[in-house]
Amino acid sequence: MNFDTSQKILITHALHTENALRGELQQLGYKVIGRDRLNVSVNGTLKDAIRLNLKLRTAHRVLYHLNTFKAFDLGRLYKKIKGYDWTDIIPLNGYFSINSYSNQKGIRDNRIVNLKVKDAIADHFMEAKGERPDSGKDSSQLSLFVYWVDNTCSVYIDTSGESIAKHGYRLEGWKAPLSEALAASIIVNTGWDSKSPFINPMCGSGTLAIEAALMASKRYPGLSRSNYSFMHINGYDSAYYKEVKKEIEDQVTDQDLPQIIATDIHAGALRAAKANAKWAGVLDLIQFSRCKFQDTLMVGEGGIVIMNPEYGERMGQVDQLKPIYGHIGDFFKNDCKGRTGYVFTGNPELAKSVGLRTKRKLPFLNAMIECRLLEYELYEGTKKLSRKPDRYSPS
Ligand SMILES: C[S@@+](CC[C@H](N)C(=O)[O-])C[C@H]1O[C@@H](n2cnc3c(N)ncnc32)[C@H](O)[C@@H]1O
Repeated sequence: MNFDTSQKILITHALHTENALRGELQQLGYKVIGRDRLNVSVNGTLKDAIRLNLKLRTAHRVLYHLNTFKAFDLGRLYKKIKGYDWTDIIPLNGYFSINSYSNQKGIRDNRIVNLKVKDAIADHFMEAKGERPDSGKDSSQLSLFVYWVDNTCSVYIDTSGESIAKHGYRLEGWKAPLSEALAASIIVNTGWDSKSPFINPMCGSGTLAIEAALMASKRYPGLSRSNYSFMHINGYDSAYYKEVKKEIEDQVTDQDLPQIIATDIHAGALRAAKANAKWAGVLDLIQFSRCKFQDTLMVGEGGIVIMNPEYGERMGQVDQLKPIYGHIGDFFKNDCKGRTGYVFTGNPELAKSVGLRTKRKLPFLNAMIECRLLEYELYEGTKKLSRKPDRYSPS
């Protein structure tokens, strides 16, 4: 396959993370030409898709467009797919997997679409070559994605395969870790400058602090991953991938880095956070310590203090957590002046207990729960922090 042909590239993302992804694309020099609810598109070649896979922090998948056609039923879908030249894309001795999304009338289960597309590709090979590549559910080799909506079907190479939302450093889990792409999107949305202090009490398994360290030291996700779907396309030549990999290795800098502090009350959380940071190559860039969030070392001036407290699922848990959110408000007010405070939480009732006026509330989705990133401007000097009257009152 020709890796220099320009096509539409669709980049998928989680709900509410479009702005962060757009910001990244702009920085990398790509112009967004379209958007849908959970994706944005740019124009580019397969080489661009390689670059985007290695560099994007907030994306989920990079899909390279192959073909779009009208299809009213499975029969027509089969015919159009079978008529496409798959021998150019899938190596005869290769392996491919299919994923799809469809809202077509009568399609209740996307697996039937996957099966029809797989059969059409296999039949194309049998007619053209008398043999066919293997296929199945394993997305660690060549992945295809079929988007069949309102009688229009678009077929893409999913050049990522396994999602690039995972950045490859999470060895040890801890309570409710954020996804790596979500943590990166949260940081981009704070507007943190990668120079001023980044203070992360209640760090858990360290995702926010690790993503901050990766960003500040220009370590891109492609550094810690060595297999992508694009590597399994027919005619793949590793020269361009190696070029981009070398480019991102050369960009890594450990000079003039900001102070990044990560603390947690639990030894297990710190153990996980340190193991993950070590695997991500940023252990030395983060100062970890075990303490109550109020005892976190407040280094330098300005910057951000960002916390992701537990938000509880049952009523009893929520009641127990209310005072903690109140103490976060006290901590912000007394110890974080001159900085910008952030609380990432999935419970608006608990958020009220912080008791400070929010400057911004940004929506996110975490593990299917609607969450908010709450921003608090923590003025220094004479400007008083405004306190809401209802802070500890039961709701
Ligand atoms: C929801 S988890 C944070 C998850 C984290 N964002 C991640 O990606 O792994 C909340 C963390 O707050 C910590 N924590 C709870 N109460 C605390 C307190 N009073 N002081 C410091 N840490 C606390 C817990 O140990 C837990 O690791």
